[in-house]
Amino acid sequence: MRAKAAGMHSKDCVKVAVRVRPFNKRERDAGSRCIVSMVTSSITIQDPRESQSRRSFCFDYAYWSHSGFTRDRGGLYVPEEPGGRYSDQDSVFQDLGEGVLENALQGYNATLLAYGQTGSGKSYSMVGYGPNKGLVPKLCDRLFQAIRENQDTRQCQVFFSMLEIYNEQVVDLLSRGSRTPGGLRVREEQQRGFYVEGLRTVPCDSAPQVEQLMEQGTRTRTTAATHMNANSSRSHMLIILQLKQIFSKESITKQSNINLVDLAGSERQRSSGSEADRLKEGTAINLSLTTLGNVISSLADVAVGKKVVHIPYRDSVLTKLLQSALGGNSRTVMIATLSPADICYEESLSTLRYAERAKRIQNRAVVNESPTERLVKELKAENARLLQRLSRLGQEGRRANDETIPMCSEELRQLLTHNELQIRAIQTLWEQHLQEALKDWEQQYANITQERRMMQMHPYILNINEDTQLSGVVKLFIQEGEWDIGLCDSTPRYISIKGLGIQERHAVFRNEQRRVTLTPLAGSKVIVNGNSVSQTTELQHLDRLILGSNCTYLFIGFPSERGGDDWSRYDYDYFQSELAAAEGIHLGESSAGSSQTDPSLLAVFYDFIKLMPMVAEANQMSQELNKDVEFKLEIKNLALSDSKGHDLKKEIVIIVTAVGRKQVWMWSKTKFVNRKFLMEDAYQLHQAEKSRDNIAEGLSTAVLPRDKDPFWDPVEPLLLGSAHLWLQSLAFRIPLEEQLEVLGSEGTEEAILQAQLVPCTSTGLAQGEDDILIDPSELLGRRLDFQLVLEQCCGLRWIREARDRGVQIGFRLFDCSHPLYSPAVWHNVNPLLDHRVHFASLHTSQRLLDYLQSSAVVLELWGLQEGCTDLVSSLEGVRMTAEGIFIIEEAGPANPAPVDCSVRAQQDMEELKSVNSSLRKENHILREQLNAARNGGEGVRGRSVRPSCDAEFARSLKVFYHSMTSVRGQLQRLRRHRPSEDSDLLGFRLFVDEQSRLLRDFSEQLEQSVSTLKQDVAAIVRRKRERSGIWS
Ligand SMILES: Nc1ncnc2c1ncn2[C@@H]1O[C@H](COP(=O)(O)OP(=O)(O)OP(=O)(O)O)[C@@H](O)[C@H]1O
Ligand SMILES: [Mg+2]
Repeated sequence: MRAKAAGMHSKDCVKVAVRVRPFNKRERDAGSRCIVSMVTSSITIQDPRESQSRRSFCFDYAYWSHSGFTRDRGGLYVPEEPGGRYSDQDSVFQDLGEGVLENALQGYNATLLAYGQTGSGKSYSMVGYGPNKGLVPKLCDRLFQAIRENQDTRQCQVFFSMLEIYNEQVVDLLSRGSRTPGGLRVREEQQRGFYVEGLRTVPCDSAPQVEQLMEQGTRTRTTAATHMNANSSRSHMLIILQLKQIFSKESITKQSNINLVDLAGSERQRSSGSEADRLKEGTAINLSLTTLGNVISSLADVAVGKKVVHIPYRDSVLTKLLQSALGGNSRTVMIATLSPADICYEESLSTLRYAERAKRIQNRAVVNESPTERLVKELKAENARLLQRLSRLGQEGRRANDETIPMCSEELRQLLTHNELQIRAIQTLWEQHLQEALKDWEQQYANITQERRMMQMHPYILNINEDTQLSGVVKLFIQEGEWDIGLCDSTPRYISIKGLGIQERHAVFRNEQRRVTLTPLAGSKVIVNGNSVSQTTELQHLDRLILGSNCTYLFIGFPSERGGDDWSRYDYDYFQSELAAAEGIHLGESSAGSSQTDPSLLAVFYDFIKLMPMVAEANQMSQELNKDVEFKLEIKNLALSDSKGHDLKKEIVIIVTAVGRKQVWMWSKTKFVNRKFLMEDAYQLHQAEKSRDNIAEGLSTAVLPRDKDPFWDPVEPLLLGSAHLWLQSLAFRIPLEEQLEVLGSEGTEEAILQAQLVPCTSTGLAQGEDDILIDPSELLGRRLDFQLVLEQCCGLRWIREARDRGVQIGFRLFDCSHPLYSPAVWHNVNPLLDHRVHFASLHTSQRLLDYLQSSAVVLELWGLQEGCTDLVSSLEGVRMTAEGIFIIEEAGPANPAPVDCSVRAQQDMEELKSVNSSLRKENHILREQLNAARNGGEGVRGRSVRPSCDAEFARSLKVFYHSMTSVRGQLQRLRRHRPSEDSDLLGFRLFVDEQSRLLRDFSEQLEQSVSTLKQDVAAIVRRKRERSGIWS
């Protein structure tokens, strides 16, 4: 479907197109739902959590590339049936590409931007993959075709440049020399605006030449990404095509710049509920993208008539270079790419909002005629006028102003000659440049042909990058004999690679007797198919190699071993999943499509495999910079801090350990990602210094001041684990004493905590058995006092590991917004806590009662380290009596009815209340009757047959309650039960299945026993009423 909105093309507004791509593997595995629909040029997105919530947007073009396509023999994605709704690369080009081309040929500057989250299809649309060529190659094709078609009327010159902006540094992707440290400079000139100084511009006169340059640029991008261990998704790629058209007949030159921009992934850094980092995104990683957003917002405001003082073009490199594209002299098109999957809702909505703002921007594009050419044109015109005048004057025979005219015409003649020479010089220069570029191109072409020949002869390794666009770009051949692979290029037979953790001589490849083996050299890290190897290993076709911390290669065997196999499945995710599986983190790869994994687990899994290589890199940098810090991924079970013990949500945290100092931190994913970029900066700096001064390794790192050091943080208390103390007993006013297992986020036992819940009087005296309630609703509207007693912690692992540490217990009850903490205890593995807190509800509501019956107080174990300050209870918003009692609820009868309490439950409760009060009355009568009977001499029999029913209730309840608590405890233990470390994949899957079944059964059993108790109680009540009926 290719749709164009009617009347949308207000002349110079930025045109906006959206494109929706097919689901990727991850989305298919998660059983994702498509939440995007399109009708002509409008697009609707639905909130997956709220079916009624939809947002619609209207753009200039909307492309449906999600479904309805098939792959033809040549690998092209085309509509399933002719005229189908699927938008292929051709149809996108017809709208957007042709428009850009037309504008450029008319002499306008033109810009095409691709915006969208990582993996949403920006590069697919801009550059394309394999036969599915994107806008840029198609545009070049058409451009040179148009040039050929128009060669009678104009002479054209095309210059091609390609650059990357990473971390606010401009890298020339076509540069032949070594990389300029700190990148190229962006300068400003009045006429030209902003430009990149020293950027290589290559003259081109054919589409294959441009394609080859793009290939060269991509190769540079790939190697730069590995050397700098940069993430290409965070970089912007810019292709600049300068088109100069010389219309000799009209004596004008039109010049237009075509900017083709593949922007960095737009995903926002979502703080996963975690603290803000001490070191803000000090790096400029996202500065260009953020500034682009700000510029677009400001320009959108201008368009609707808002007063905008300043448009922040100058705040980033990207916006400087795109100044003319945004609100300036350019015709601009933006293609916003989205995933239609429910799991990408937030990002897709944010992309659509961004695109909507962009479409309001108004540009002022003009045809660019070069000033010198215009001068020639003007001079020629003037010359013609003067000559005419001259001849008229001659005819009239008058000789007025006779000195000035010849002077003018002489001057004009000179100027004309000068200009003609200039034009000729420019042309000659162009031809010279073109000749040079062609020579270069021929050389490159010869290299490519040579490479193709080698591929047909020898085994090789192929680079695999996180960005699919950069995968398969580097091929390293393993010819017969023995080859060192590593940083070194001094040995006679070497394969040179660079990257984190790569040693001078890293490993040896041997290609002998049609077998290829790989031998890691001492101290180097080599992983084959997910497993670390230290011995000589024979490689098989399609083996996966990871050298150093994260240089990933696919081994391509001898040509005879290669079938028609599809190598594309061995993508970056595949490598990382394999590595994760070796660590016991697995998703059931073979079951893809057959069984669907819980989306939240899948998200954690993908987070894990995304962070894993980053952690390896951070560890390598730490080691090389002598930071003595180790990073480790941990899956944190959020059930540990959920007061209802729900067990679904999981989150990745990064445990950071300063090994020598025995200090530990826990970083959120967001914080780690931010720090990782800052670490890269520090590492780059170190590398640059090292190569400049040849200083001893590690020396320069001392230069970074501590407060700017991304590897360092002030020590802080660390959440070690938690335990649940269920509150249900309080609803019955039954005291509870527990030995709780405090479990760490990975299920490790951190300590045993002895705690009590003691129902008490308002003065703090413990209540006895007689105060036990049969029906918790009796508490409604009444005061409830209880104490939480933290007695002792035993077997503290945290202290056992290092004696100079301490602990505190944190807890939060009901509506308290801030946690309370027990005083710190230090240096003791089994410290006495002896901490008692008195809570009171002055007027117990149904909501509190529901809370008591269904929730636990989460007791958090906090680890203190030498040098960190204790956690202090914040009493903000807390009401406390003079006696130090914490009031958890004080609202009177006006307390609003609980929102979540169903009408049914309300009715049940009312019924129970009335049963209860009549029971009380009956009891009272019963007691009086008994007394009377006792006085009458029948007391002994009466008492022996009917002891106090209330006490009977209370006792049975207490017994039941205790047994239920242990059932709950058992359930908790079961939930955290782990498979053995060395269980194989099948074992692991079986364990998971078994575990979930047991959990289900167990919960059902628990609920059933509660309901049985309810029934029993009801039966006793009934019996009692009958008895009293008999007696009365
Ligand atoms: N319209 C489409 N049709 C078919 N496949 C697509 C389409 N768009 C994207 N893809 C596939 O999705 C994957 C990711 O796309 P792409 O590399 O273009 O993402 P990106 O937006 O450039 O991501 P990054 O920000 O990481 O560079 C690729 O494998 C690509 O082939
Ligand atoms: Mg891309």
